[in-house]
Amino acid sequence: MSIQLNASVTWVGKKDWELREFHGVEYSTHRGSSYNSYLVRDEKVALIDTVWQPFAKEFVANLKKEIDLNEIDYIIANHSEIDHSGALPELMREIPNTPIYCTRNGARALKGHYHQNWNFVEVKTGDRLSLGKKELLFIEARMLHWPDSMFCYLTEDNILFSNDAFGQHYATEFLFNDEVDQAELYQEAVKYYANILTPFSSLVEKKINEFIGLNLPLSMICTSHGILWRDNPVQIVEQYMKWAQDYQEDQITLIYDTMWNGTRRMAEAIASGIKMVSPETAVKLFNVGRSDKNDVITEVFKSKAILVGSPTINRGILTSIAAILEEIRGLEFRNKKAAAFGCYGWSGESVKMIGRLLTECGMELMDDGIRALWNPDEDSIAQCVEFGKQIAAAAR
Ligand SMILES: Cc1cc2nc3c(=O)[nH]c(=O)nc-3n(C[C@H](O)[C@H](O)[C@H](O)COP(=O)(O)O)c2cc1C
Ligand SMILES: [Fe+2]
Ligand SMILES: [Fe+2]
Repeated sequence: MSIQLNASVTWVGKKDWELREFHGVEYSTHRGSSYNSYLVRDEKVALIDTVWQPFAKEFVANLKKEIDLNEIDYIIANHSEIDHSGALPELMREIPNTPIYCTRNGARALKGHYHQNWNFVEVKTGDRLSLGKKELLFIEARMLHWPDSMFCYLTEDNILFSNDAFGQHYATEFLFNDEVDQAELYQEAVKYYANILTPFSSLVEKKINEFIGLNLPLSMICTSHGILWRDNPVQIVEQYMKWAQDYQEDQITLIYDTMWNGTRRMAEAIASGIKMVSPETAVKLFNVGRSDKNDVITEVFKSKAILVGSPTINRGILTSIAAILEEIRGLEFRNKKAAAFGCYGWSGESVKMIGRLLTECGMELMDDGIRALWNPDEDSIAQCVEFGKQIAAAAR
């Protein structure tokens, strides 16, 4: 299936409705995804990106229905990751001499993945490739999200091909942002930002300012995953700017795990204390052992403060909590406050340990945290409520 976007650009990608896990099992894709590839026809013909490896044969077969492969003059590889370059080996078997335009890091990474000496043409920001009446302008986007990442911009049509940036793992029967459920779209876009792009927020900010400085008119942003932004495409750029600048909402998220529900009861009592002082604050609870990790991370991203709870087990913490804290550490969230809580039976190390891990995550501790012996009694629950009230005030 291919879809004509305008007189010169055709979408030749793949919608992957079945996908439920991406990056191994690192990223949950409840709504599938798509791998967007584009054919640009002027006097010359350029193919921008391909699709994920499992769909390579299907992709090339489909492309042949759209065009004689020998008519493709240039291949543009905006990003070497397998979900976009995975069909290159299949394609290059048919047209082995076609030049592949990419960044220097892109050429290195493509060689590193496929071990082929294809005809790489290295490009830098500001380089232009004439297609006849229109040009492709290249813009390096280093570390957004790999060292090789790049955007390209089609003049006359004013289309930005942004690859992973501004994307969403979101399969739909539609292709454009104005056609889909807006809440679903927002959810997938913010999840994508929180889980993939947060560590690069300062670069996102810089890159967007650089792009604005180029003063290029923008009619459409063609991403490499999910829907394309044609209705007010600047909205997602503005949204990224907000997300990149230490984003937070008036939300406090409690994440915990428990063996015998004591730590859950603590979480609920703390949450009720927060609500007493700060009824307007969104307060959300997640047992991370039973929750989707990426959804929890998205809620952490939106929060001004998080509370993390684990009972003590073998003088330490539950592995689910250790795992999510490791995830949070790597994502380098900024400007968030935190505190720890948890039940214990004798030695009770968990709260201190979580506190230390939260500090390593770059979070500011609001409090030393709160412990409760065995399953909390009425007094302990009352202390948790008080703790919640203090947290609500400290998180202001
Ligand atoms: C396998 C296991 C190991 C434990 N190890 C410790 C420990 O090293 N130190 C400690 O203070 N409590 C330890 N405990 C006791 C728990 O922290 C205690 O039962 C707590 O109340 C459980 O909280 P929960 O209801 O949130 O699961 C352990 C409990 C279990 C089941
Ligand atoms: Fe990627
Ligand atoms: Fe991707």
